[in-house]
Amino acid sequence: MDTAVFSIDSKHPDPQVIAHCAKLIQKGETVVFPTETVYGLGADAQNPSGVEKIYKAKGRPGDNPLIVHIADTDALTSLVEEMPETARKLMHAYWPGPLTIIMKKNALLPKAVTAGLETVGIRYPSHPVAQALINESSCAIAAPSANLSGRPSPTTADHVLQDMKGRVAAIILAEDTQVGLESTVLDVTKKPPVIYRPGAITLEMISEIIGDVVLDDAILRESDEKQPLSPGVKYKHYAPVAEMVVVKASSEKVTEKVKKSTRGYQNFGILTVDEHMKDYDDGFIISLGALAAPEEMAHNLYAALRRFDDAGVDIIFAEEIPISPDTLALINRLYRACGFQFL
Ligand code: TXA
Ligand code: MG
Repeated sequence: MDTAVFSIDSKHPDPQVIAHCAKLIQKGETVVFPTETVYGLGADAQNPSGVEKIYKAKGRPGDNPLIVHIADTDALTSLVEEMPETARKLMHAYWPGPLTIIMKKNALLPKAVTAGLETVGIRYPSHPVAQALINESSCAIAAPSANLSGRPSPTTADHVLQDMKGRVAAIILAEDTQVGLESTVLDVTKKPPVIYRPGAITLEMISEIIGDVVLDDAILRESDEKQPLSPGVKYKHYAPVAEMVVVKASSEKVTEKVKKSTRGYQNFGILTVDEHMKDYDDGFIISLGALAAPEEMAHNLYAALRRFDDAGVDIIFAEEIPISPDTLALINRLYRACGFQFL
């Protein structure tokens, strides 16, 4: 399939590019676009044939629901059945932004979007290009991350071209995404509400607005449930091609343990932090950034995983990152990327 590729200035999205891509969306085609978290692979949420094309382009299992993107809260009336008070308060506090809110779905929304579930995840992105595309398309846009299923989500133009060129009608490229990890996914149909996927909007930030909220068990350990509440947790995610393990130890002892673990390997990568770079002299070494700057580390994770693959390493040893409200999302993606394999 021929893919039209456009580069765009985020602050001043070219209206002609937006109009052209909005027409494609209206015709039931797929368009990749930047958001503040990661790139999304979009189609008209009310058009089952467009939605079908998303699953096909990604190679995504049909039982994993998509989230629906809006650029105006009025659009909610045709998407959700009821809007709890908790949702209203969170929208006011954190929309537009990296928070997906799961609510009861409206019967008008095709079942293909939610993979047959009675709930739908809604997100109002803050990225000006995402907003312009949604507004110009005059419809809500269903969009998962624009990676091939199982691969790390795309945060740069190169990642998008690698995974999606030839598989979608158009790609809109802009500068690298800001957050670099996917949105927080929160289910407000549960009492108390449950976070299925941690992100830049933290549990603490949510709790400040609505009080009680809990983390799903599957965030830091492997789900053994056959029917998890969020279907996405069943699948290997965010994973590089290389094998990967997370090496657990305190920040003082971790470099020593990593070095011991790499003995006997020829072609290995090490995922570390700025503070520990000087401790290594062997292997393909990438730093996520400074331990003192968790947002920077989150922003760099997916690009680092893809760089290991480009370098062709057989195995990646990733240092354990100390847990805090600001590193939970990063740790969740690291654990899932390594398939919960620890040393
Ligand atoms: O930041 C983001 O959220 C990006 C950008 C493009 O907006 N999108 C994204 O979508 O990460 P996706 O499809 O890659 O991840 C959505 C996750 C999946 O794990 C899915 O299982 C879960 O949200 N999800 C979606 N709808 C759900 C629902 N109704 N109930 C439970 N989990 C749901
Ligand atoms: Mg994804």
